[in-house]
Amino acid sequence: MASTVEPHILVIFGASGDLAQRKLIPAVYDLYRGGYLPEHFALLGASRTDYSDEDFRQKVVFENEFFDEEKKQEPKLKEFAKLLFYQDLKRYDGEDDIKKLKQRLQDLSKEFTTGNRFIFYLSTPPKLYSTIPKALAASGLNKPADGWARIVIEKPFGYDEASAKQLNEEIQSVFPENNIYRIDHYLGKETVQNLLVTRFANGFFEPLWNRNYIQSVQITAAETVGVGSRGGYYDESGALRDMIQNHLLQVLAHVAMEPPIRADAYSIRGEKMKLFQSLRPIQGEQVAQQVVRAQYTAGHTKEGDVVAYRDAEGVPDDSMTETYVGMKFFIDNWRWAGVPFFIRTGKCLPLKVTEVVITFKNPPQAIFASYDDYAMKCDNQLIIRIQPDEGMAMEFGMKVPGEGFRVKNVDMDFFYRDLTTKDVPESYSRLLLDCMKGDPTLYARGDSVEAAWGFVDPILEAWEKNEAPLVMYEAGTWGPTEADDLWDGVGNTWRNPPESLTEDKHYTKL
Ligand code: BG6
Repeated sequence: MASTVEPHILVIFGASGDLAQRKLIPAVYDLYRGGYLPEHFALLGASRTDYSDEDFRQKVVFENEFFDEEKKQEPKLKEFAKLLFYQDLKRYDGEDDIKKLKQRLQDLSKEFTTGNRFIFYLSTPPKLYSTIPKALAASGLNKPADGWARIVIEKPFGYDEASAKQLNEEIQSVFPENNIYRIDHYLGKETVQNLLVTRFANGFFEPLWNRNYIQSVQITAAETVGVGSRGGYYDESGALRDMIQNHLLQVLAHVAMEPPIRADAYSIRGEKMKLFQSLRPIQGEQVAQQVVRAQYTAGHTKEGDVVAYRDAEGVPDDSMTETYVGMKFFIDNWRWAGVPFFIRTGKCLPLKVTEVVITFKNPPQAIFASYDDYAMKCDNQLIIRIQPDEGMAMEFGMKVPGEGFRVKNVDMDFFYRDLTTKDVPESYSRLLLDCMKGDPTLYARGDSVEAAWGFVDPILEAWEKNEAPLVMYEAGTWGPTEADDLWDGVGNTWRNPPESLTEDKHYTKL
């Protein structure tokens, strides 16, 4: 496929780190072997480790365990490695270091005739997110003559609304907003993007997609893993910051936003911002009523025996950090007035699964109820599975053959993999390619990141003041029973996907 990407150099800061090895380099290679990279392209890794170009290639390509064996045998991989270079930096903002980096970029630009076009990817600790842009600006690399410079910032973008605002101001003072790409890998997931197509390319969902027909909306992102060796990072973050403020609020925006007038960055990101502005704040006493924070104790999951969160490496014995959040909230706009929304996420749950469940209201009269009380419980649900076994299922009632009118819940399902014989692109490949094309549609805009923090901040504040309890759940269970109580009066509850769910590409019930 012909590439529409302009020649450029991709600079990865923090290139000797885990993310570069695990996700970024394999994603760039996938773009290379798919023919998406421009003919004139080079990648420059930069970090503090003292590597030569050859050491870097060995580490991130030939000895990288995140390339499967098949890929490691491909002749293309050797060609790809020749496009990779490395620059060590003593300090990311050292004057001499940035001078060296600039010189290296000029040399590579000449060698690969890429012109002055650069993507700077910050795969570094968050404290460098404002340092590096300023250092680049001091040497003019933020505005290269006759070219462009884009900057990609990893999560977490800020720690709360105030810090996100400050970070935005600092970066925006040296890079225009259009050139700032705040990455959220959930937006690179095909099925998250497909939410927009499901809603806006089909006529029959839209009339039903509102308070008149929808009883509730729930989003679950369950993980089987615990915090493993990430305890140090995680304990400062917790599930609300780690998963909800970014990934799950973005999924919510795709489910609940108004139709954009066009499928472009300006329209889609504008609608998302409006949605974030419509979230009804959860404050003070409401936090204890609407948000459940919990932490796992020792137990057994699919991954094996798990020690309690407080016994994990890097976690204090008295940590109050939540590894699970279940919450109920409302969206104050015309479409959603009165409809309860639920989000839950947790570590050490029974399955790794992310899904959205739309539950429709019951028919106004249960005329078959006298035949069998099952009719009363018949749920009309639309299940949108984000991962794994990506797909959709509709649940509805059908007559059980035979006498009377007994009604049974059945489902009609569609698996996303039936659409293509090709591998579904990885999030990072898709997002990097969009950045290379200069399309920020699937990246978070500065103001909406602040707005999302604005929604979670009062919850974090109440927790800091201990205005809501921290409850415990055993690893390997679906979380604390307190989270079930959030559904009181709604007439439904969390949907726990079937235990038969597998990740081995065999068809299973959604
Ligand atoms: C990351 C979080 O952003 O997303 C992790 O920091 C989490 O804690 C991960 O495990 C989940 O991503 P995915 O794509 O596996 O659902």
